[in-house]
Amino acid sequence: MKEFDPVKYQEMVREYQERDDPFGWFDSIYSDAEGDHNAVFWADLAPNPYLLKWLEKNPETWLKKKAIAIGCGVGDDAEAMAAAGYEVTAFDIAPSAIELCKKRYPDSKVNYLVADLFDYPEGWAEAFDLVYECNTIQVLPGRYRREAMDAMVSLMSAEGKLLVSCRSRKSGEELDAIPLPLDKNEIDSFMHFGVRQKSFLVYDDDQEPSVPHFFATYSRERRKRKRN
Ligand SMILES: C[S@@+](CC[C@H](N)C(=O)[O-])C[C@H]1O[C@@H](n2cnc3c(N)ncnc32)[C@H](O)[C@@H]1O
Repeated sequence: MKEFDPVKYQEMVREYQERDDPFGWFDSIYSDAEGDHNAVFWADLAPNPYLLKWLEKNPETWLKKKAIAIGCGVGDDAEAMAAAGYEVTAFDIAPSAIELCKKRYPDSKVNYLVADLFDYPEGWAEAFDLVYECNTIQVLPGRYRREAMDAMVSLMSAEGKLLVSCRSRKSGEELDAIPLPLDKNEIDSFMHFGVRQKSFLVYDDDQEPSVPHFFATYSRERRKRKRN
């Protein structure tokens, strides 16, 4: 198993981004773990506590609703949504991430698959009642960040909800590293793509030192009926 070297990691990501191949490096993070999900350096190996709180407050009591986990990594959040009663699709662009999920949860009800947010399978548009994004935008560069937001919103059904969890940075703060956390203006750009903000939480996580985060929830903007 390869030891994680933060300096080499930054260099590698920069190289991929400079040649406009922003997704080319993700698989190496998982394949370097050589089949052991514990060795994926960015995986918390537990569901996001704010996702769990949201699921608890918004119990799925009626028909089985469809949820999707974007850039699902090693699967903790997808499994939490399935445990809360959703029919879950979880995808990642990294085949080795999906292999790890299947190995880790061999009896899972989650449909794990390799897919690209920017070129997702037919039938996914507007198909999901719950769309969950955690930490994907922050590892994308430049224009891909807004395009990712647009694509995420496009997965929401008319009554759908979108939950976004990410690292945050102070408004306007310039940072030259990956992940590049979102500032308030940037996360607010979700609202340019047809959603209304339902809640917005700013918090510091329990790492040492703690890392500032946002957890935001959105619903589809209702289209106004035209009167004759
Ligand atoms: C920082 S990781 C976060 C993983 C997981 N959501 C978590 O919170 O632990 C970002 C994930 O997004 C995936 N990803 C990046 N670009 C993607 C794309 N275009 N389509 C699907 N997944 C993508 C990466 O492979 C990686 O697993």
